[in-house]
Amino acid sequence: MPIHSLQGSFSGRLLTDPADMAPFLIDWRKRWTGKAIAVALPDTSEDVATVVRWCAANQVPIVPQGGNTGMSGACVPDGSGRALLLSLTRLNRVREVDALNNTMTVEAGCILQNLQDVARDANRLFPLSLGAEGSCTIGGNLSTNAGGVAVLRYGNARELCLGLEVVTADGEIWNGLRGLRKDNTGYDLRDLFVGAEGTLGVITAATVKLFPLPAAKVTAWAAVPSLHHAMQLLERAQNTLGARLTAFEALTPPCIDILGEQLPHLRWPMDERATDAVLIELSDPDSEAAGRVALEGLLEHAMEAGWVSDAAIAANLTQSREFWSLREHMTEAQQRAGKNIKHDIAVPVSRIADFVAQTNAAIAKAFPGVRMIVFGHLGDGNLHYNVSPPKGTRGEDFEVIEGAVNRITHDAVHAFNGSVSAEHGLGVLRRGEAARYKSAVELKLMHAIKQALDPQGIMNPGKALGDFA
Ligand code: FAD
Ligand code: MLT
Ligand code: ZN
Repeated sequence: MPIHSLQGSFSGRLLTDPADMAPFLIDWRKRWTGKAIAVALPDTSEDVATVVRWCAANQVPIVPQGGNTGMSGACVPDGSGRALLLSLTRLNRVREVDALNNTMTVEAGCILQNLQDVARDANRLFPLSLGAEGSCTIGGNLSTNAGGVAVLRYGNARELCLGLEVVTADGEIWNGLRGLRKDNTGYDLRDLFVGAEGTLGVITAATVKLFPLPAAKVTAWAAVPSLHHAMQLLERAQNTLGARLTAFEALTPPCIDILGEQLPHLRWPMDERATDAVLIELSDPDSEAAGRVALEGLLEHAMEAGWVSDAAIAANLTQSREFWSLREHMTEAQQRAGKNIKHDIAVPVSRIADFVAQTNAAIAKAFPGVRMIVFGHLGDGNLHYNVSPPKGTRGEDFEVIEGAVNRITHDAVHAFNGSVSAEHGLGVLRRGEAARYKSAVELKLMHAIKQALDPQGIMNPGKALGDFA
């Protein structure tokens, strides 16, 4: 049936003009550009269901999209021009905040930063926090099972979700928006859709957890002689700060160099720039003074033990934001430096220093001169193990080596019993990797779920699990 038969059947917008559709069809990294028969921007869950039913009746593939900040190419259609892009951005209502139940129910298109503000206005914390929070949406966060910088203390998107409303692949609305910490009534359908990258259904709303708002946060950068020393600092921090330790991020020296080259206005807060560095954040329930005493005590002990060679504690909120800005601009800095090869790996925290040392050596041997831009969520075992071209070059031909670099890295991750996608999802970028590293049993079970929930294969085909999806 022609696309204009969809026009007028739902409230919201339907874009068919190529110029209007263009911004929705290229990803944030400018790496994937797709084509679509139309971009639909429905207003309500019922509208989403109408659009999905139309697509199901006409075997039109659907690519759900939130803030289009995904890193793996799963949020834009392929080049066939057959798909409909379904933007959730107009579903942006906060349906309920229940401070006593420590939950809020929000629509999928709500921007993450806005939800952090809504929670704060209710004297609560919604802790999911990532560099794209100004434009990513909670629907996309849940669909990618996003991690970010507070996973160490609060968990990832999956652990923050209590209930979902989903439009299924045949256009029915499942309302599972229960704000219960305990609900053992059959299979956990919620967890099937979280992290599914839009391949099983469209998330239209979620009930998420809220937490007590800390009295204060205290932030510090610490220079460490190596990642092994960073691990000793992490262990001491966990033993002495306990639940007050809310972030433990790392930058390695090439990251500090690239930040200085590409974003010189961001001031590095320590003299020491030639060693690994860790950003530590402590959230104190009582007071800033108590937090400061605890963090100073940790760093003093670490310096005496030789785990830390230099440190800077943010004097106030402004400086804390400056400290975070260095970490949050890493992605942009690397993007500005030219072509790059990204990995989003996780290995057991206790093995991460060995993984980096061993894999750095393997890549340097195979590709002398490339820059190892290794940074990220050290405290929860997830690193963005990225590679940039040699200093002074922009890697015009970098794609040529990407496959070999991926293989060295992902084979090492597998050997360390890790994951080739910690938080960004498989998308297009890594859709072949699941079949390479997962067991036949696991693939068979995932195939059975896909067949059961999307038998026509219209939900974001070709993403995540690839061909059989
Ligand atoms: P999109 O990019 O629009 O979509 C992502 C995936 O979710 C696609 O598969 C899409 O089909 C699907 N999807 C979107 N909305 C829905 C829906 N309502 N129902 C079903 N499927 C849907 N990610 C991290 O995990 N941690 C980080 O620290 C982090 N930092 C980042 C920093 C920067 C500067 C940038 C640009 C990105 C970063 N990301 C990070 C990646 C990205 O922000 C996350 O993956 C985010 O969760 C994507 O949300 P989105 O709304 O932009 O989703
Ligand atoms: C981050 O932690 O900064 C992100 O996941 C983005 C990236 O990998 O570049
Ligand atoms: Zn990340």
